[in-house]
Amino acid sequence: MQYIYLQSKEALDETGTVLLRGLNLDQLTFEYFTKYFCQDFFRVTSREKFRLESGDGFTTLTPTDNITILGHVEVDYVPGIKTPNIGFFFCETPPEVEGGETFLVEGVAMFNTLSKSLQERFKNEQVTYEFLWEPQRWEAQYGVNTKEELCKRLDRIENVRYELKNDWLHLFYTTSAIINFNDGTTAFSNAILGHLPELDHPSYHDKTVYRKETNRVYWENGEAFSIEVVNELIDAHDQHKQHYRWQKGDLLIFDNYRYLHGKEETIEWTERRLFSRFGYLDIDIE
Ligand SMILES: [Fe+2]
Repeated sequence: MQYIYLQSKEALDETGTVLLRGLNLDQLTFEYFTKYFCQDFFRVTSREKFRLESGDGFTTLTPTDNITILGHVEVDYVPGIKTPNIGFFFCETPPEVEGGETFLVEGVAMFNTLSKSLQERFKNEQVTYEFLWEPQRWEAQYGVNTKEELCKRLDRIENVRYELKNDWLHLFYTTSAIINFNDGTTAFSNAILGHLPELDHPSYHDKTVYRKETNRVYWENGEAFSIEVVNELIDAHDQHKQHYRWQKGDLLIFDNYRYLHGKEETIEWTERRLFSRFGYLDIDIE
């Protein structure tokens, strides 16, 4: 395992992603392998119902609903939580019908595909995510038990506004949608496409795209993203999708800053069982 780790770490450092094929892992050996990379892991509270009781508590299954999920950086929209810089997906049961691929979108290539005017706008303006969380979600995400503890935690974070209504947290978080790397490149690195209130792109009319009614995202001045901007983002996203058709025993590792990840729906519901973990590399990739 040490040897596989060293080989994959090298590839990961170079390209930001690596696919290992034909591994004979179960949940616990998968967790064991990921610990070569990270000591700290992120608890994916949006998938609390998919969290596995066995193991160390940081592994979840990926959503089993048959939906398309547009590319996003995991939990980039959550304030006060450092965005995990590495993601791991391990395939136990691949989908047996057409579709169901996971895809990655390289954020620098995607950003460079956008028009100069939109690139400039992302360089000069931040975006605001708005969302509504039930008590269980904020308790799990921030590791707090009371509203007072929650407020104390949120009051320390910049660029956050919030309201508590009947214990539900209505949160507004303003942050950059891009990331600048040391080599001078800029990546589209955010969770915008997973937070859109609506979608009207011809390629997705016949698909069921993940949306949550209470999620919103817009420019920091409150201006909505126009349909033209949203569709330009989706065009660039689609142009750079790298699809992974799962086989049993595949392990996909990726830089969660540099790559957006998403999923295609299958032509009909089928079992598709992937273990998922996100963590913090012991030494940053960048
Ligand atoms: Fe995700």
